[in-house]
Amino acid sequence: MRIYQAKDYNEMSRKAANIISAQVIMKPDAVLGLATGSSPLGTYRQLIDWYRKGDLDFSEVHTVNLDEYKGLSPSNPQSYYYFMQENLLGHINVKPENTNIPNGLETDEALECSRYNDIIKKLGGIDIQLLGIGNNAHIGFNEPGDAFEKGTHCVRLTENTIQANSRFFSSMDEVPRYAYSMGIQNIMEARCILLIASGAAKAQALYNALFGPITPAVPASILQLHPNVFVVADTDALSLIKEKGLL
Ligand code: F6R
Repeated sequence: MRIYQAKDYNEMSRKAANIISAQVIMKPDAVLGLATGSSPLGTYRQLIDWYRKGDLDFSEVHTVNLDEYKGLSPSNPQSYYYFMQENLLGHINVKPENTNIPNGLETDEALECSRYNDIIKKLGGIDIQLLGIGNNAHIGFNEPGDAFEKGTHCVRLTENTIQANSRFFSSMDEVPRYAYSMGIQNIMEARCILLIASGAAKAQALYNALFGPITPAVPASILQLHPNVFVVADTDALSLIKEKGLL
């Protein structure tokens, strides 16, 4: 595991974008595993900028996203599909048919999960998987639990998440209760992992993930077993690891 230190969010974003762009330059038909959330926004902005400057070409790239809310249509501004269009995919020359995200409108969970696992398999696996980390060390929607989930699965969101999301919806009925997410096995099968973290709120999770015991109670801790992990984190996110003299 290689840990790159960045002084702040912007530097973290630029370093992460550098790693992704190196991948795309070395393998123009790379399969990129992508994430949503606030962590990758700066990375995506940087990639769009380099694309506009003519330094990057995504015409042969395929993408697979980690997760999507169940029940939300792609046109819903809270859907991860919408997020990806707004923040990356709609601004680069990736072919829409080469982009993949779980179908939030599929009500048959078993069908959707196997369809998504098959997509990843048919693409020959993920070359580099970008990951944010939750304050509780979740990755994708793999929440702390008793076991590591394997493939794509349907997750019941925690009451906390449902409550927190309710501010984005006009009524409680519209707030998604479930999400589709890649499982730990999908993530671990990626040939390379790029984990990004910024801010003091992530310090404990990052320490537990990288240096604590490997346990489903800390989902990101499984990454310690992956042979090819790059962590790019800013000073605040690394504060606990540094305090303990581990870096
Ligand atoms: C996003 C995802 C989540 C986030 C995590 C961190 O697709 O799967 O695991 O990466 O919740 O979120 P932010 O970056 O908003 O702190």
